[in-house]
Amino acid sequence: MAETQDIRLVDLDEDGVDRAFRADVLAGLRQADKAVPARWFYDDEGSELFEEITRLPEYYPTRAEREILESRGNEFAELIGPGRAVVEFGSGSSVKTPLLLRAIDPGAYVPLDIAGDFLRAAAADLSAKFPGLPVYPVEADFTKKVTLPDAVRDIPKLGFFPGSTIGNMVPPTAVDLLRSMRATLGEGSQLLIGMDLVKDRKILTAAYDDAAGVTARFNLNLVHRINRELDGTIPAEKLRHKAVWNDTFSRVEMHLEALEDIGFTVSGVDFAMRKGETIHTENSHKFRRRSANMLLLAGGWTPVRRWLDGKKRFSLILAEATVPRSAP
Ligand code: AVJ
Repeated sequence: MAETQDIRLVDLDEDGVDRAFRADVLAGLRQADKAVPARWFYDDEGSELFEEITRLPEYYPTRAEREILESRGNEFAELIGPGRAVVEFGSGSSVKTPLLLRAIDPGAYVPLDIAGDFLRAAAADLSAKFPGLPVYPVEADFTKKVTLPDAVRDIPKLGFFPGSTIGNMVPPTAVDLLRSMRATLGEGSQLLIGMDLVKDRKILTAAYDDAAGVTARFNLNLVHRINRELDGTIPAEKLRHKAVWNDTFSRVEMHLEALEDIGFTVSGVDFAMRKGETIHTENSHKFRRRSANMLLLAGGWTPVRRWLDGKKRFSLILAEATVPRSAP
C-alpha cells in the first residue's frame, strides 16, 4: 500500500499552477449551480484568516471544543488508556493536540497532512513540548487509506479529528472518509472526533457572518486566490458574502452572491453570473446526537461516549472500530 505515499501530493503544471485547483474551479463554475470546494480556502492568507475566525466572539466551536478537551482529561485517560499511537488527521490544531496528549500519556504521535510544511512545523512543535514522545509525521492524503510507519504498526491507535471538519463534507463523502480512517487505523482502534451541534439558527449564522467581517474576508479570499493563481478577472467588489441555514441538509452554507449581472474569465474560460446568483463555497453540517451516531455507524465506527461543553454547543465523540457482531 506504499503507493498512497509515493504519489505526488501537489501536481503543478509548467506555469506552477496547481492542476487540481484549476480543475475544481473550472468544473465548479461551469455547473448550473456554481460551487467551489471549501478545501481551496486554505492558502497562507486563508489559513491566517481562519485562525482569526477562531478568536471571534461569534465563532464558538473552537472555544467550546477546547473547553471539553481541557475539562475531561480524566475521562479520556480512563476510556482511552495510556500507550496508544495518536494519529491526527490534519496537523493544524497546535492548541488542541497538546491538551489531548497531556491527558492520555500516548505511546506515539503521528500527524498526517497533505501539506508538508505545516506537517513538519506541527511535528517539531509537538516534539519540543513532549520531549519523550516519538513523533512520526506522514505526508499523505488521508481521504485514502494511509500506510502508517512500521514503528506504530503493533501499537493500538487513537484517531483524532477535531474542529468539526467532518461537517465540511456532504454525508457520502464523510462516510467515505470515516471508512478510510478505519482502514488506516485498523480493527480495535478508537476515534475522537469533534462534531458541531444543531442550535438556534441566529447563533449558527452569526458564527459564519461575524460583525467584524472576518468570515466575509475569508470567503472572498477564495476569489482573490482564483484571480491570482488562475489568471482570473472575477470582480470581488461585486460579490457579497452570504451565510444561510439549510434545514433540509442541516448545515450552514457559505455563498458569494453577485450584486449585479457580471462576466469574467478564469484561465481563459468565460463565465457569467446573473444578479442574485451565487457561488456555493462551503457547507458546515451540524449534528444531533442521533445524526452524529448514524454518520459514525455508517462509516464503521461504534459510538462509545459523548462529551459536550457547558453551554451544549459542541460535541466530542469517542468511537471504536469494533467487529460487527450482528448479522449483516
Ligand atoms: C474548518 C470546520 C473548522 O466549518 O466551522 C469557519 C471552517 N468556515 N468559518 C467550519 C469555517 C467559516 C470551519 N472548520
